[in-house]
Amino acid sequence: MFLLVSFILLGAVRKMTGQYKMEKGAINEALECKISELEKFIGRRVRIRGWLYVKNTVGKISFLRIRDSSGIVQVVVKKDKVGEEIFEKMDKLKRESSLIIEGVVKKDERAPGGVELGAESLTVQSPSLEDYPLRKNLSPNLVWKYRHLFIRSRIMSMILKLRSSLSNIFRNWLIEHGFFEVDAPSIVTAATEGGAKMFEVKYFDKKAFLTQSSQFYLEGAIFSLEKVFCFQPSFRAEESKTRRHLSEYWHLEVEASNMDFQQLLHFEEDMITSVIREFYDKHKDEIKRFNPEFKPFEKPFKRITYTQAVELLKNNGVAIEWGKDLGVREEKMIATILGQPVFITHYPRQVRAFYHMPDPENPSVVLSADLIVWPYGEITGGGQRIDDYKMLLERIIESGYNPDDYSWYLDLRKYGSVPHSGFGLGFERLLAHILNLPSIKYAIPYPRTQTIVYP
Ligand code: 4AD
Ligand code: MG
Repeated sequence: MFLLVSFILLGAVRKMTGQYKMEKGAINEALECKISELEKFIGRRVRIRGWLYVKNTVGKISFLRIRDSSGIVQVVVKKDKVGEEIFEKMDKLKRESSLIIEGVVKKDERAPGGVELGAESLTVQSPSLEDYPLRKNLSPNLVWKYRHLFIRSRIMSMILKLRSSLSNIFRNWLIEHGFFEVDAPSIVTAATEGGAKMFEVKYFDKKAFLTQSSQFYLEGAIFSLEKVFCFQPSFRAEESKTRRHLSEYWHLEVEASNMDFQQLLHFEEDMITSVIREFYDKHKDEIKRFNPEFKPFEKPFKRITYTQAVELLKNNGVAIEWGKDLGVREEKMIATILGQPVFITHYPRQVRAFYHMPDPENPSVVLSADLIVWPYGEITGGGQRIDDYKMLLERIIESGYNPDDYSWYLDLRKYGSVPHSGFGLGFERLLAHILNLPSIKYAIPYPRTQTIVYP
């Protein structure tokens, strides 16, 4: 009974949404396949499902470019093959109408992908109701306003596939190296990164924030799992309209017990070079299309202490005082002079968050490192954490925070503390760097920035 009602309802919905069939033969005779697979089926009758990309009718023949997630194919629709009624209906279709097409695959060296499809039947799943708003010569405003449509473009679909692959490679690499993925909350009660602003959230009758980093929660998890990572959004309410800032970005964070600062640098280097090498080997052709110059990073990465960097900058005519944080201009100069990527280490404690371990040999600097590339700047930030209860408490107070807000974090130093280190990687910054994208906003499907919160 339930099934019967469902079928009747489905039929009614189909009628309402204007689904109609334009075919001669039965639809289930053909082999269903993706467009990228067509070359394997020359001479066979196949069925593809896709969206109308371009249509060009000359007399009694129409050339359609149909796209699916895997590629584009040219479909030749002849009036005498599909019949007059179907041909006329098809000719009125607007861009992005969704179609199911059956036909025979033919070899054609001139066609994109080396094949074309001779249509025998055509079903419109849903016709586009209006003219598609995204055409050639898009203005940036349109791209952001119609982001939900822009991600259908070839370029965005290529970027999104690469993004998906890169995150998988990171995950697999970490899991193969004994790490556990841990999920941390997005709604939190205190800051981790002093310098960066937080988004406030009304949380029932309390005040809460969107997390800037999951680091503290990963630190908690090392006492259970020892080697952990997470890959989830971090939120920054910074008012910076630059090519490298998002308000919500995907943050790959790694934390490990019994790992000291030098081990951390080696670890980061290993992970990043291995992952990028695998990514490059897998997608060389696509990466080269975006960034012909890109070369996978080589180990060891260059290293320079903050103090040496200040000297280098002064010698190159930059007026910078020891103790001031490095900005974009300084990072650019360092990356250009030394080559990239480069670790800048041992920052003054006053420009780093309170949790960083002071260098036992020179407590005015901390055991922290940023990995710098150009033009995306800092792609990772991390270091060894303070593991001593008293020292952490003092640093929290010295930095102007209320220890009560961090009592759970302090607890981690009360019960069997161990030396530990970790870092966070800005996923979109790395992807945008590898692909040489004009802005980090192209490295994420739905960017959030100071000016973009829709769609
Ligand atoms: O340097 P950050 O602020 O460090 C942390 O949050 C540490 N708690 C991470 C850790 O040790 N677990 O951020 C880490 C990285 C930066 O190096 C940068 O690549 C990226 O996150 N990042 C941003 N990416 C895009 N948009 C922004 N607004 C970003 N802010 C930081
Ligand atoms: Mg940082």
